Amino acid sequence: MDFPVKTGAPARHRTECAILPVFDDGKLHGATKDFDRAARGAIAKLIRAGDAPSRLGTCTLVHRTQGTAAARWLLVGCGKHADFSAKRLAAALGAAIHSLRSGGTKEATSFLAYDSPLDAADAARHCVETARSSIYRFDELKSRTDPPARLTRLALGFKAGTDLTAVRAGIKVGSAIASGTDLARDLGNRPPNVCTPSHLADAARTIAKSYERMEVKVLDEADMRKLGMGALLSVTQGAEEPPRMIVLQYRGAAAKEPPVALCGKGVTFDTGGISIKPAPKMDEMKFDMCGAGSVLGAMHALGELQPEINVVALIPACENMPSGRATRPGDIVTSLSGQTVEIINTDAEGRLILCDAITYAKRFKPRCIIDVATLTGACVIALGHVYSGLFCNDEPLAKALLEAADRSLDLAWRMPVHEEYGESLRSNFADFANSGTRDGGASVGANFLSRFVDGLPWAHLDIAGVAWRANANKGATGRPVPMLVDYLLNLDGLNLDGADTQ
Ligand code: BES
Ligand code: MN
Ligand code: ZN
Repeated sequence: MDFPVKTGAPARHRTECAILPVFDDGKLHGATKDFDRAARGAIAKLIRAGDAPSRLGTCTLVHRTQGTAAARWLLVGCGKHADFSAKRLAAALGAAIHSLRSGGTKEATSFLAYDSPLDAADAARHCVETARSSIYRFDELKSRTDPPARLTRLALGFKAGTDLTAVRAGIKVGSAIASGTDLARDLGNRPPNVCTPSHLADAARTIAKSYERMEVKVLDEADMRKLGMGALLSVTQGAEEPPRMIVLQYRGAAAKEPPVALCGKGVTFDTGGISIKPAPKMDEMKFDMCGAGSVLGAMHALGELQPEINVVALIPACENMPSGRATRPGDIVTSLSGQTVEIINTDAEGRLILCDAITYAKRFKPRCIIDVATLTGACVIALGHVYSGLFCNDEPLAKALLEAADRSLDLAWRMPVHEEYGESLRSNFADFANSGTRDGGASVGANFLSRFVDGLPWAHLDIAGVAWRANANKGATGRPVPMLVDYLLNLDGLNLDGADTQ
């Protein structure tokens, strides 16, 4: 999808459809005012008659566009003028594009950010992300596909005098985040017989081939055995499908710059293992690799943007299956760190593959480790489908991630880490157990992971509630690609040790 930038008189701009904001204060603002003047008050009349509601996201399509160069007007409710924000811009544009999706419009022009108090680059970024995600479809496995989205071009109208260099930079960032998000969604939506650990490895290889400064290494089961990744191996043990540990490095800065390590849970199907899950909704456990998908999505975006930072992605990928060879509840395994774990519940497998990835990450002497995982049902209970759970042992890192989340409209909520959440992981037979109380289960999971980070700045994002949507719109969301990419792009300004790396 193309995003040309337009400045100059809005009503004279030739377009198939002009997307215009309507606010609830009864006044006309920005480009809408210009259109109304050119159309001799036609828009004000529509609004007065109650035919163009200002409720956020309400769309009114108008064909009689006399006096203006647009073939149609799409009047979009944007709510209260004083409250207009990036979030409302995204909601309004998303609704507009949704309403155009079923029509025949190939090209449209958004004037929603024409004269807004929002930062123009930021507005452009969110327009691009919203438009791209609104036209996203996953139909690669339908034999009769719906006709493809017809909208292929969305011009962005800005007031003369806007800093167009900044706007173009915003479009570039938005496009990279959108491509990364699309990749994460595709990987998540693919069925578990297609999106296997080897498939994730192939996706990493494709990224490494497509972009500069990338290097990929893929460990197989024999490599894991040699290294001593006993926790990861215990999860894959019951599966026929071979596991992979993907190591994808992006080197955008000098070798001495410590990288950010991103670890993404890549369970390509989670049956629960011998502690098997109930049948209803078990198909959704194909999404249990969405942490891995979002890390690959973020790496894809970095490839496109080439920022001057170092990042290493570590993706432990396997299936969690029951079989005669599967791990039994009660089995004790030795993790890569040397710590022994009693596996009380084979369904608490995410932490077992992540703990070995986190230990492996330490080889890269990272400045911090961020793991991303659909780790616990308890996090879904706590936060629903709105916020990712953020567990963090380091204040500057937590702050940087929460700010990135806010800027990205990809929300995260800080959750507690406290030693006491580890009490229930006590084991009489091993160093500790892999599962404890259900109460506070998301923090118990985080506590398990914290035992492997060795005092490094570390953040754990539990995305169990946000990585996919269920029911009618079932599908992967691509979250938290926007937050991760935003955080990484802003690293230089928010250096963890407070020093300037440049
Ligand atoms: N992948 C699941 C977590 C999950 C469940 C995500 C439902 C989204 C929706 C994870 O592997 C799991 O099974 N966790 C267990 C942990 C428990 C056994 C300690 C859980 O949350 O029940
Ligand atoms: Mn599980
Ligand atoms: Zn799982």
